[in-house]
Amino acid sequence: MADLSIDFCGIKSPNPFWLASAPPTNTGEQIMRAFDAGWGGAVWKTLGDPIVNVTSRFGAVDLGTYKMMGLNNIELITDRPLEVNLREIREVKRRYPKHVIIASLMTETKEDWRVLIQKCEDAGADGLELNFGCPHGMCERGMGSSVGQEPKLLAEITAWTKEFAKTPVLVKLTPNTGDIVEAGLAAVAGGGDGISLINTVKSIVGVDLDRMVPLPRVGNASTNGGYCGPAVKPIALHLLAALAREEGIKIPISGIGGISNWRDAAEFIALGSTSVQVCTAVMHYGYRIVEDMIEGLSNFLDEKGMKSVNELRGKAVGNYQEWGDLDLGYKLIAKIDAEKCIGCQLCVTACHDGAHQCIFTGNEEKTRPPHAHAHGKATPPTPFPIGKIAGPRVPWVDEPECVGCNLCQLVCPVSGCITMQEVPGGAADTWNARVREGRNKVPGGIHD
Ligand SMILES: Cc1cc2nc3c(=O)[nH]c(=O)nc-3n(C[C@H](O)[C@H](O)[C@H](O)COP(=O)(O)O)c2cc1C
Ligand code: SF4
Ligand code: SF4
Repeated sequence: MADLSIDFCGIKSPNPFWLASAPPTNTGEQIMRAFDAGWGGAVWKTLGDPIVNVTSRFGAVDLGTYKMMGLNNIELITDRPLEVNLREIREVKRRYPKHVIIASLMTETKEDWRVLIQKCEDAGADGLELNFGCPHGMCERGMGSSVGQEPKLLAEITAWTKEFAKTPVLVKLTPNTGDIVEAGLAAVAGGGDGISLINTVKSIVGVDLDRMVPLPRVGNASTNGGYCGPAVKPIALHLLAALAREEGIKIPISGIGGISNWRDAAEFIALGSTSVQVCTAVMHYGYRIVEDMIEGLSNFLDEKGMKSVNELRGKAVGNYQEWGDLDLGYKLIAKIDAEKCIGCQLCVTACHDGAHQCIFTGNEEKTRPPHAHAHGKATPPTPFPIGKIAGPRVPWVDEPECVGCNLCQLVCPVSGCITMQEVPGGAADTWNARVREGRNKVPGGIHD
C-alpha cells in the first residue's frame, strides 16, 4: 500500500487529509472524533476575540436531487472563549501527538497577533494559518479578505507573524481577488512557510421572493456570504494551479474548495497541493467520508505504481499551459454508439442550438446550415445505424462539420454513448508560434 504520509513545511501528517477551519473543527471533542475516523490533521475554527453570530447562517444551492451543491455561510470566527479553545488544543495534542493541529488565527494589531500566536503555540499547535480570506462580516472590520485583497498589507501582517512564530505559518488566501499570483507572492514576500487556498467565494445564494429578502434570511435582511462546496472546486483548482506553476512560489500549498472524495483530492494533489482540506463535504456527510478517501487514494496510487502520495504531487502542473501554447492541429470528432443510444435527441438540440449544427436524425440527406465549411448536403452513414433501444432514432454526426467541442458528449445522459475520437488533424501549431512567426492574421478581421 502506498505511503500517504506527508511533510508540510516540517509538519508531519499521517495522510494529506485535513479538516478545514469551519464548524467541523469547532471543538476538541469533534476533532478527536475526526482523528479516530482517519483525518490526518485539522485546522481549528479561526481563533481571535470571540464574536457574536446571527441566525440563520447558511444557505445552499441544490442541483436537481443533489443537495448542497454549493453552500453559502455568513458565520464568523469562533464564538467560544479563547482559553477554552486553547485548553482543548492542549488536550487533543496530548491524546493525538502524531496528528496535526493548525491554529487558524484572525486578529488586528501587531500586539494582538503576538499574544495570540504565543498562546496557540504554548497550547501545542503544530502550525498557524492566517485567515486572510473570510469575505463576510470580519472584512467589514478590517480583517479576513480585506487583508487578503491588499498584497502589501498581506505581506506586512504575514511578516509580523513571522517575527513571533516558532511554528510554520500558512497564509490562507481569498479567491475574491483579481490576481491570485500577486497574493501568493505577497505571502512569500512576508515570509509565509505555506499557502492555503481557497477560502469562500463572496456570494448571495438566492432571494426569498415572498419577503423580497436575500438568503440566508436574518429577520428582514441578509448580507453577502461565502460560497463553498462542490460548486467552487473548478475555481479552487484554477487558483491552485496558477500558484503551483509560479516560479516565485516554492512553498507548499494546502488545497481547499469542494473536495468531497478521493478523486477530488487526487486532482488537487496532481495540481500541486501537499495537503488537502475539507469543510462542506464533512458538514454534509460527516467525518467518516475520510475512510473512502484514504482507501480510494491508496488504491489509485497502487494502480499507478506510485509508492508515495508525494510522487503524485504536481504531476499535472506542467500540462497546465497558456491557451496560446495549445496545439491548434489537434482534432477530435464525436462518435455515437448506436447500441447505447436511447434516442432522447438531447445531443441534436444541443449541437443545433448551442454548437455547430452537425448532428442529425433520419435516413435522408440533410441541408447543411449556410455557414457550413463543407460543401453540399450532409449524407447519413452507410449502413444507417439502427439502435437496439433507439431504433432509427439514433442521431448521426456530420463529421466534416464537427468541431469536436464536446457539448453533445456532455449533455448525453448515457455514459459512454458519445465518445470523442482523435482524428488526424493539421501539423502541430500554436497561436503563440503564429504570433512569433507573423502568421497570426486570420482573414475577415476588422480591417479587411
Ligand atoms: C460554515 C462555515 C464556516 C467557516 N468558517 C471558517 C473559519 O472560521 N475560518 C476559515 O479560515 N475558513 C472558514 N470557512 C471556510 C472553509 O475553511 C473552506 O475554506 C471553504 O469552506 C472551502 O472548502 P469546502 O468547499 O470544502 O467547504 C468556513 C466555511 C463554512 C462553510
Ligand atoms: S462535438 Fe460539438 S460540434 Fe461535434 S457533434 Fe458534438 S456538439 Fe456538435
Ligand atoms: S444524447 Fe446520447 S442518448 Fe440521447 S440521442 Fe444523443 S447520443 Fe443518443
